[in-house]
Amino acid sequence: MIYQGENLSVRYIADGIAELTFDAKQGSVNKLDKSTLVSLDEAISALQNQPQLKGLLVSSAKDAFIVGADITEFLGLFALPEEQLSAWLNKANNIFNALEDLPVPSISAINGYALGGGCECILATDLRIADSNARIGLPETQLGIMPGFGGTVRLPRVIGADNAMEWITTGKNYKAAECLKFGAVDAVVDSAQLREAALSMLNDAIANNIDWQSRRHAKQAPLALNKIEATMSFNCAKGMVSAKAGPHYPAPITAVKTIESAARCNREDALKIEAQNFIGLAKSEVAQALVGIFLNDQQLKALAKKAGKNAQPINQAAVLGAGIMGGGIAYQSASRGIPAVMKDINQAALELGMDEATKLLNKQLERGRIDGLKMGKILSSINPSLNYESIANSDIVVEAVVENPKVKAAVLKEVEQKVSADTIVASNTSTIPISLLAKDLARPEKFCGMHFFNPVHRMPLVEVIRGEKTSQETIDSVVAYAAKMGKTPVVVNDCPGFFVNRVLFPYFFGFTRLLQDGADFVQVDKIMEKQFGWPMGPAYLLDVVGIDTGHHAGEVMAKGFPERMGKTTEDAIDVMYQAQRFGQKNGLGFYAYTKDSRGKPKKDADPASYQLLSKVASQSQDYSSEQIIARMMIPMINEVVRCLEEGIIQSPGEADMALVYGLGFPPFRGGVFRYLDNMGLDKYVALADQYAELGPLYHVTDGLRAKAAAGETYYGKQG
Ligand SMILES: NC(=O)c1ccc[n+]([C@@H]2O[C@H](COP(=O)([O-])OP(=O)(O)OC[C@H]3O[C@@H](n4cnc5c(N)ncnc54)[C@H](O)[C@@H]3O)[C@@H](O)[C@H]2O)c1
Repeated sequence: MIYQGENLSVRYIADGIAELTFDAKQGSVNKLDKSTLVSLDEAISALQNQPQLKGLLVSSAKDAFIVGADITEFLGLFALPEEQLSAWLNKANNIFNALEDLPVPSISAINGYALGGGCECILATDLRIADSNARIGLPETQLGIMPGFGGTVRLPRVIGADNAMEWITTGKNYKAAECLKFGAVDAVVDSAQLREAALSMLNDAIANNIDWQSRRHAKQAPLALNKIEATMSFNCAKGMVSAKAGPHYPAPITAVKTIESAARCNREDALKIEAQNFIGLAKSEVAQALVGIFLNDQQLKALAKKAGKNAQPINQAAVLGAGIMGGGIAYQSASRGIPAVMKDINQAALELGMDEATKLLNKQLERGRIDGLKMGKILSSINPSLNYESIANSDIVVEAVVENPKVKAAVLKEVEQKVSADTIVASNTSTIPISLLAKDLARPEKFCGMHFFNPVHRMPLVEVIRGEKTSQETIDSVVAYAAKMGKTPVVVNDCPGFFVNRVLFPYFFGFTRLLQDGADFVQVDKIMEKQFGWPMGPAYLLDVVGIDTGHHAGEVMAKGFPERMGKTTEDAIDVMYQAQRFGQKNGLGFYAYTKDSRGKPKKDADPASYQLLSKVASQSQDYSSEQIIARMMIPMINEVVRCLEEGIIQSPGEADMALVYGLGFPPFRGGVFRYLDNMGLDKYVALADQYAELGPLYHVTDGLRAKAAAGETYYGKQG
């Protein structure tokens, strides 16, 4: 034994050959957390004192090599003063340099994932051999940062600048066979042969049959690119990357610029540039937001896992209503292995539902994600039906019929009589309170809300709504079912609109008020998309959701919260609705929808809608982008805060995830609470107070005011 640490050990396995094995004591995966780095440092120091050492094999005793750094440590690290952050990077780089500089050849035997720091670790050895299940990549830019342990230095010197820029800017991970083509690994073998093959390659290097010194040298020298090649390559990458990532996500372009600036440098100087640029990103609000989303997501996964322990098994589902939502829910359930009966009262709707499912599966077939057999299996596990008997054996029934409280109440009551006493019944209503729908049910404890978003197969969020009488077991079972469907469930308490629609409508009301005060909807859309970062501005979103749907839901919300959302005059949504401009679905809404010469759908500002809006608007008026953002966002932010204070949503993290996953709240802003924390609560209160005269939607809660006065944040200290 040469070294034994908490998470790794080094021992001689043959004459002069040592093996460094990552084997985390806690948990099922290896991570490059702070303590593992300390051990690695000690292990390499121990190896430096082994005069008889001839070669080093680096391996993992877990199912994966190293899954990456420990992201739970990130926010704490990033908050360190710059000098400390810089010292930490320097220390880590010294460790990887020491591994690279050992006087003997080294090889990594890569099983499973080698991501982030794990990938940077294997790049420090001279040779790399992967098993056929390995996946290698540098996902850091997806978290708003970039590789900081030499990834931007070594990868381009191993696989070429163009390839490295592709790897780093997309953050994708690559299968073993692809890695071999890129030259990121030297060989790929079956899992069973990995160790033996790695040892044999190492012996070849020890015998100097493989020129490991020159490979090592290439990683320590400037990039092998002449000036013209370099100019072409970096300019092209910069153009492509900034067009793709857009102005709100600086990490990918910073990574390209880092590789470019370090192209003529040796390893030490290149690492300095990397560290400097890494710190710039680590200190950014974008990194905080994206890391925050990752951590919140992990938290939600842990909650769903916990719920799974208390859940009833769900092996057969039924969906009532084969419309846009019901069809999507049945498809999603079936595609994740839970067969679903799809019941409607209308044969044409059933056919449409099956056609939709077939279309989605065909797309996956074309992309090679599934084969014909799998497609057949999924399709045959959706059972379209016109009669109630077909749902008798379901463990859960998800109701997705029209959004009408009377129809829903009648349907739900009927359903209860057709299924067993254990069957869970859930409603996909978007706005109607669950406790109201539960009023006439015989088993309200078995009933809750299960609110999917459109399109179901794409939107990750499911709101699980707890009615007054819903049992914990019902909630846990629906959470587990949603997670099994590949969705992210967030449990919320009951109220009109639940969480997501309750906070969306104040935003729409902010919008209609802005139009009333003379703003131009096209300008508002542009600012909310380009500057704030929403995927769609409010006018376009209303057109996509459907003005009729928005109009109806708006009325429900106004009735539910009359003191804030009630209205006394006609607004822009009313006039669009009355003119039967229902949005994208009938080609006319705020915009007019047509097709361009190539048959692609396009939208144009329509003079007719300006004409209509003149009914509700005073003279047109210019607003700055700050004013537009404030007037649009303050009502939403205040309502989100109210939902937390009223216990509709349990935590800032769950609220932010519901906003990002359910509404497409700009991920680089991390959600409303992250946005508030970054802005500073006192600054926000001062801003909102400037708009207080616009009415109660703009009034900050006492709770938020008190928190601001106390200098608190919503997330507190993390990491
Ligand atoms: N469309 C969305 O964006 C969206 C998003 C989230 C939630 N929702 C909610 O989902 C529900 C369904 O919405 P949708 O957009 O799919 O509506 P839809 O009009 O497309 O589909 C409703 C379907 O229900 C069927 N139906 C009506 N009465 C029935 C009954 N008694 N038994 C069985 N089927 C019956 C209709 O034939 C129709 O096929 C609504 O509560 C809606 O608020 C919709």
